[in-house]
Amino acid sequence: MEYIVELKNVSSSYLGEAYPAIRDITLMVKKGDFISIIGPNGAGKTTLLETIIGLIPIVRGKIRIFDKELQKDGILIRRKIGYVPQTFSIDEHSPFIVKDVVLMGRFGKIGMLNSPSKRDLELVNEFLQLLDIYHLKDRPIGKLSGGQQQRVLIARALAKEPELMLLDEPFSAIDPLFRKEFIKKFVEIHKKFDLTTIMVTHDLGSIPEICSKIYVMRGGRIVEELKVEEVENFRERKGVLNDLPRT
Ligand SMILES: Nc1ncnc2c1ncn2[C@@H]1O[C@H](COP(=O)(O)OP(=O)(O)O)[C@@H](O)[C@H]1O
Ligand SMILES: [Mg+2]
Repeated sequence: MEYIVELKNVSSSYLGEAYPAIRDITLMVKKGDFISIIGPNGAGKTTLLETIIGLIPIVRGKIRIFDKELQKDGILIRRKIGYVPQTFSIDEHSPFIVKDVVLMGRFGKIGMLNSPSKRDLELVNEFLQLLDIYHLKDRPIGKLSGGQQQRVLIARALAKEPELMLLDEPFSAIDPLFRKEFIKKFVEIHKKFDLTTIMVTHDLGSIPEICSKIYVMRGGRIVEELKVEEVENFRERKGVLNDLPRT
């Protein structure tokens, strides 16, 4: 299997919408790749990730993931994808405790009616430590800051032991001062767990050097492809991308 993710001329539309939100997207991702997708608000970045996990109906083209057809084997495929969504609203009164939220990432492996094994619990601790939130493990998630909640959701996605990670603006709630450090952490995670990663961002400053490819989206299409060393130049040309408000 050469490619983990294959999109060929894919257009997808939100239900009830006359026009596709993403158009004619061709994207080929190899095992171990770290791909960044950049673009201004409304470009279709989030829609692209949601299309890859089968949440948005495909109106044209084909998607294969792990060498399987998304429309046929969606359930199998989703089991091996860790998805960290861009927007999450966690109720301030949510009764869920951080360590249990991370454990939820293992439910697919544990099964509905079984108890978590020693290894499941060890893994949860490992991911809590990795994301520097071990000290928060007994706190209700609703009482944490946005940045801390984001870390919990990343730990939950990792607890799934996914083969493919989809990250939608993973640094948005992280204090800009700590962003660089957090990016390093992602690269470390990507390497340590042999992941294939697709990361969406509108922040040109948060593209790691390890990136194999950077795609620029605009108006639902991929309009440009950049190498890491071209980002600086691109930033000067299109500095405005960086100043756009967050979605
Ligand atoms: N739930 C939805 N229903 C209909 N249209 C949507 C929905 N969510 C997003 N869109 C539209 O799809 C396009 C792409 O949005 P999105 O993928 O969120 O962009 P980005 O993540 O790059 O900011 C936009 O035109 C947006 O208005
Ligand atoms: Mg988005």
